[in-house]
Amino acid sequence: MIRHVINITDLSRDEIDRILDRAAELEPIAHRGSSNILSGRILATLFYEPSTRTRLSFDAAMKRLGGDVIDFGPIESSSIAKGENLADTISVISGYADAIVLRHPKEGAARMASEFSSVPVINAGDGAGQHPTQTLLDLYTIRKESHLSNVKIALVGDLRYGRTVHSLAHALSLYNARIYLVSPDQLQMPDSIKGDLINSGTRITETTDIDDIIDVVDVLYLTRIQKERFPDPGEYQMVAGSYRITNETLRNVKDDLIIMHPLPRAGEIDCEVDASKHAIYFKQSFYGVPVRMAILSMVME
Ligand code: NCD
Repeated sequence: MIRHVINITDLSRDEIDRILDRAAELEPIAHRGSSNILSGRILATLFYEPSTRTRLSFDAAMKRLGGDVIDFGPIESSSIAKGENLADTISVISGYADAIVLRHPKEGAARMASEFSSVPVINAGDGAGQHPTQTLLDLYTIRKESHLSNVKIALVGDLRYGRTVHSLAHALSLYNARIYLVSPDQLQMPDSIKGDLINSGTRITETTDIDDIIDVVDVLYLTRIQKERFPDPGEYQMVAGSYRITNETLRNVKDDLIIMHPLPRAGEIDCEVDASKHAIYFKQSFYGVPVRMAILSMVME
């Protein structure tokens, strides 16, 4: 059976824990090492939306494992500019590579692509849907820099359009997390996801005010307001800059609080916070390499 990675809910807690354990084993190689675990294998990366960390960390992960990467480059220089549909592109590319990483602006695109692919498809973000590999690296970061079981975590910012928090909230429900949802009223977590959390027995609290929760949480997970997903630019202007963390905001936080962000940031964290012991977002983006090494080896080994 082909092993696709489309939605975090397709993975059990056991499977997630195994990927995180494998990432821990591979982490020394991610630090300037090399191996031949995937030598002779080819990964195709197809990004229909901008990406820095996801694209380059998949690339680095594949190369550290001894494999190769092909990428169709900017959309304007591929046949998509001639109007080729996703199904045809995937049918063709799955003949050239051993796995496909896909980022696409439409929710559900990765699931659809998996139906046309003869090799594993890894969802690197589908619109406002899911971002399961980001979630795996987020879980790895929480496990390593704080603790996963019973963690008290605030998801802050654009909970409506932010795909990273959609996947992460589902995954956290497997770890008995206490989740605080902090957003402007217009950008609340979708009801379907809140329903899933409640049905799984996860305790959630919603608020618009970060000061209500900042002193009780172990993890503060900030997100960018997803400007590109707003149907109306005027609506974006109303919520832009809703949350901004400075050293002053952090006055009374727990001593071992960690601050995470999938990046890129757009003003949610003042640069002065970067020097604080709480700031671990750059480490978090590094962990994308060992975690994606674990995912690639799981689907291709
Ligand atoms: C995120 C994304 O693409 O969803 N970026 C990432 O992969 N690290 C977050 C974002 O764009 O705000």
